[in-house]
Amino acid sequence: MTLHGFLNERIADFGVMYFKLHRFHWYVKGPFFYPLHEKFEELYDEITGTFDEFAERLLSIGGAPASTMKEYLALSKISEEGNEVTPEDIFATLIKDYSHMVSALKEGIELAEGQRDMATADMFIETITNFEKHLWMFKQSIKG
Ligand SMILES: [Fe+2]
Repeated sequence: MTLHGFLNERIADFGVMYFKLHRFHWYVKGPFFYPLHEKFEELYDEITGTFDEFAERLLSIGGAPASTMKEYLALSKISEEGNEVTPEDIFATLIKDYSHMVSALKEGIELAEGQRDMATADMFIETITNFEKHLWMFKQSIKG
């Protein structure tokens, strides 16, 4: 896997998550609708920033970010499908999807460092730090 190809897979993950987080924002149901509706908005706002940051990093190192839904669905291993409405089901999906993104990014650090691209490795580390904090909070939000 080239670093360019790897970055495009991550861009695809973020593109799919952007839509998926909207679905949770719209369809979450139950007594905690208001705070969760807001939380999911915060998460899709954040991921659109990460999406743009990764795409512009790829452009900065001479690559071409994927930019169509068709490419995102083909490149990402995150499934956009689902009909979760309860907070438990949504958080279970978020734990799965963010864990996937974190483990992929961890592999990317070595890939970037192998090419002496410390700035890209640093961007991965920063994103992992942020996503791991979300993962801790998602896990706190489901029944033990
Ligand atoms: Fe909204």
